[in-house]
Amino acid sequence: MVTRTVPESAVAVLREVAEVRVCDQDRPLTPDELRAAVEGADGVVAMLHDRIDAEFVEAAGSQLKVVANVAVGYDNVDVPALTGRGVTVTNTPGVLTDATADLAFGLLLSVTRRLGEAERLLRSRTPWNFHLGFMLGTGLQGKTLGIVGLGGIGQAVARRARAFGMHIAYTGRRRAAQEIEAELDARYLPQDELLRTADVISLHCPLTESTRHLIDDAALEAMKSTAIVVNTSRGPIVDEKALAAALKEGRIGGAALDVFENEPEVDPGLLELDNVAIAPHLGSATTETRTAMAELAARNVAAVLSGQQPLTPVTA
Ligand code: GLV
Ligand code: GLV
Repeated sequence: MVTRTVPESAVAVLREVAEVRVCDQDRPLTPDELRAAVEGADGVVAMLHDRIDAEFVEAAGSQLKVVANVAVGYDNVDVPALTGRGVTVTNTPGVLTDATADLAFGLLLSVTRRLGEAERLLRSRTPWNFHLGFMLGTGLQGKTLGIVGLGGIGQAVARRARAFGMHIAYTGRRRAAQEIEAELDARYLPQDELLRTADVISLHCPLTESTRHLIDDAALEAMKSTAIVVNTSRGPIVDEKALAAALKEGRIGGAALDVFENEPEVDPGLLELDNVAIAPHLGSATTETRTAMAELAARNVAAVLSGQQPLTPVTA
């Protein structure tokens, strides 16, 4: 069972091992629809908007062997509930790293160089002319990028930032390997020091109970008044109301957001602000990457259903 349309090449991988049903609704299934749709399935290819929990497994039935989430993040999956019932969970790490890092950097440039605002100005047919003080942004060279979570995507963002002449600091649960620190000239900082000193703070950690609202009022208060927050990870890592208030009151410099606390809703306060660049969860949205993600999910399902080890399993 595939809960949402995927590229045909992924369906072809599944067809080699199973009868395939693809849900063709142009929207996420409701929890009830999802439970009805997966009844009797041996494997499920799921999307990040599907809630995969104990009830889901009960509804599917005891033959269920594998759920492949087409995303690197799997906060929508209650992993212990599944693995405890003998169901394998997989995600799609690696294949979306560069696409997501590109998007993070694109949104960062969009906010620092005011590209969205500039485009809105032109499209509104407002008269303009070149002058030295017109629509000034800020440069990135010599500024410090503070990365929260120096995993694959965090490292890929850091590499881009180095090419732009930025200094790299990072924080996270663990220190990165020495070779990675050396390659990126990345300085490990305690979280509070990173928040206090970075010019740009980019979030690349998973959403867990300990990262929910990591960026809250107190965190925003600690930041420089010029700080820019970049979020291409998961919306609930940021307290969106607190962020909107801080941006509106000029307590921080700007934000670049690809994800939101209650997707597809976006806090209306954010939509009124020019110091915010926003996109509708497009981090991995290139044809190449989305195809690779769907194919990897399909290969994970095919492996488990044919009695082999999954390629990219998730463990709780
Ligand atoms: C997308 O948000 C992902 O986690 O892959
Ligand atoms: C700007 O367009 C320049 O030529 O410097």
